[in-house]
Amino acid sequence: MSTIILGIESSCDDTSAAIIKDGILLSNVIASQSVHEEYGGVVPELASRAHQQNIVPVVDTAIKRAGIEKSDLSAIAFTRGPGLLGSLLVGTSFAKGLSLGLRIPIVDVNHLHGHVLSHFIRRAPEDVVPEYPFICLLISGGNSQIILVKDYNDMEVLGQTIDDAAGEAFDKCAKVMGLPYPGGPHIDRLAAEGDATRFKFSKPHIPGLNYSFSGLKTSFLYTLRDAKKLDPDFIENNKADLAASLQRTIIEILLDKLKKAVDLTGVKTVAIGGGVSANSGVRQAIADYCESRGLKAFIPERAFTTDNAAMVAIAGYYKYLAGDYCHYDAVPYARVTI
Ligand code: KG4
Repeated sequence: MSTIILGIESSCDDTSAAIIKDGILLSNVIASQSVHEEYGGVVPELASRAHQQNIVPVVDTAIKRAGIEKSDLSAIAFTRGPGLLGSLLVGTSFAKGLSLGLRIPIVDVNHLHGHVLSHFIRRAPEDVVPEYPFICLLISGGNSQIILVKDYNDMEVLGQTIDDAAGEAFDKCAKVMGLPYPGGPHIDRLAAEGDATRFKFSKPHIPGLNYSFSGLKTSFLYTLRDAKKLDPDFIENNKADLAASLQRTIIEILLDKLKKAVDLTGVKTVAIGGGVSANSGVRQAIADYCESRGLKAFIPERAFTTDNAAMVAIAGYYKYLAGDYCHYDAVPYARVTI
């Protein structure tokens, strides 16, 4: 008999539902929330309300697109954390309610595990997935972590940011440039036309495998502030070069520690995940590095870089196969590590 998992993701501002059948993705529906745009960031209360409005049609569409019936489901996987509590509560409560109605188990998923395991989403049986152990560079708006992945439920954080995440560095610097939120994709677009060697920004000197991005942010801010005193149109006239130089610096910081982690562990496979792994420069740099070192690179489809339920469904699929179900008294958690 087939194993069919419904995955539900509602940790931040995307309501998503996906169906995975025997490890193969049948549907992945994402409703993004535009309500936050005018505030320059996610407003938690508005996010929970939008999740409430979206969740029934999103789950319904995912089931219909997969060509299955609710009664075919084996289990429901949901993101339990980390994330915004109100948002998580919507997905968690919905998963519990539906599972009680259908008399099937629920499986709780750590959102960060989901990002790492997104490389196991197959669209067809012949799709290649990573072999354990591998290193995953998890780079998003809230995290920058180097994770040694030994198994679907056995992950070790080798290094992480001690201040801002890589995505925050993109977003905060973009904000200083007057770009809309989130700024990462705008920097990416502008960087394609800029000279990445034009500006030099400071890089951290911290030991070990941890990251720091706050110094870069400050140095970016001061460069712009000083230059604007001499030329009020400095940002406008140098947008592309600023974006390209910023992106290059972030990539150098990321790669520096990643390379150390690979040397230290001797892994043969490197994967990236999280919103920042959608960045063209990051993707290229990882691909080039892996090729030069004879490593296997796993770079996710852009649809699986940002928050999505396909990654929740695949993480839930492995937990379900292991019989690792969740109790109904499980509550969401705002903060959790790998
Ligand atoms: O994983 P994610 O969707 O959720 C959070 O952790 O919030 O990551 C969002 C982050 C934002 O900081 C956004 O600017 C960044 O991912 N991002 C990018 C790109 N696409 C999304 N950063 C750089 N280049 C991109 N193309």
